[in-house]
Amino acid sequence: MKTELKYQSGFGNHFESEAIKGALPKEQNSPRNAPLGLYAEQLSGSAFTRPRDENRKIWFYRIRPSVVQGEFKPVSPSSWNTVGPCHPPSPNQLRWNPFPEPTSKVDFIQSWVTLARNGSVETRSGVAIHIYAANQSMEGTYISNSDGELLIVPEKGSLIVRTECGELIVEPSEIVCIPRGMKFHVCLDGSWARGYICENFGEVFRIPTLGLIGANGLADPRHFLTPHASFEDKKGSFRLLVRFQGTLFESSTDRSPLDVVAWHGNYVPYKYDLRLFQPVNTVRLDHPDPSIFTVLTSPGLLPGQANCDFVIFPPRWMVAQNTFRPPYFHRNIMSEFMGLVKGQYDAKQKGFLPGGGSLHNCMAPHGPDADTTEKAMKTQNDPSYIDNTLAFMFESCYPYQVTQAGMTSPSLQKDYLNCWSNLKVYFSSKS
Ligand SMILES: [Fe+2]
Repeated sequence: MKTELKYQSGFGNHFESEAIKGALPKEQNSPRNAPLGLYAEQLSGSAFTRPRDENRKIWFYRIRPSVVQGEFKPVSPSSWNTVGPCHPPSPNQLRWNPFPEPTSKVDFIQSWVTLARNGSVETRSGVAIHIYAANQSMEGTYISNSDGELLIVPEKGSLIVRTECGELIVEPSEIVCIPRGMKFHVCLDGSWARGYICENFGEVFRIPTLGLIGANGLADPRHFLTPHASFEDKKGSFRLLVRFQGTLFESSTDRSPLDVVAWHGNYVPYKYDLRLFQPVNTVRLDHPDPSIFTVLTSPGLLPGQANCDFVIFPPRWMVAQNTFRPPYFHRNIMSEFMGLVKGQYDAKQKGFLPGGGSLHNCMAPHGPDADTTEKAMKTQNDPSYIDNTLAFMFESCYPYQVTQAGMTSPSLQKDYLNCWSNLKVYFSSKS
């Protein structure tokens, strides 16, 4: 079933695309001047007056403007929890086993379970972390999320993501990002799919500045891929969902909302293959801060303090000499949610598995488990390659509140803290 799609390459570019030759006007954007009887419609992803570098917008040329969408009514509460009460706070380190395969039919949107969140949908700050585990496609159902952009990290199964801008196919080891407010639906390319979602209420994700690293390294803009225009000219009975202020609403429509024939702009969905990330690391001693592995960042209010960083721990050479190579023990003002796409994370010998997760909230001590530590203390530090691994982190300046679903999940490990309990005491004041 897998189709080879062609994409446009670049990050933050002003792209343009037309599915039918002549559908994209050369000058004006007004409906009266749109070609082929299409309507013009702008989607703004930033305030009109944001600086040019921060400005995000896209012009659609579509069969029917989005105002024809019916009246939205709230639908029964979903397992998304971005505004409701959370579980009472806990300073403990938390870890979850892989979230299970669904036992009844559930599509991508229906399957979301919110684990943790911070900030505020209303004031556009913070993020929510959801797990999806779906076994059917969103046939005839479309959605847009007014509350935030969606950074999706598949761990199992490929997703076919159809958006107003066109179609993307994304597999584990890739990510896909869907802008706030953009209509889309997700089909499965397999029997079931699981992964992680960062719903970003804050500033849009962008690639970080490289500073003294120079012009190359980390994620290369040319490896970010945006779809070409493709559209559905379909009549029928369709569900259109919208997520607004933490509530899910539904309306019905008699045409597919993915009816954009041409578009131009820089407010676009994109995908990125994490296997193309060029890690930069120490070449002499000690472990750098994990920020060196940042793929995307959503800036916070203070310079250098992110609303959310998306950080990965990919396969890489370890060459530092005479040092402790795993991540160091630390306590962090930032809050760290981690997931694992494949393999084993180099700070944990066991217990942290693909499809599971861990949360080390603000100032919660963490680091390598006892087995990893003991092994690393004895390692001779010859150059070695960490293979078959892909862990990631959603690191936020705001402490995460864990939801009731997260704290009562059968996947929550009761014994996580034990992974450090056997850490040896090497010091003796008597010697
Ligand atoms: Fe950490």
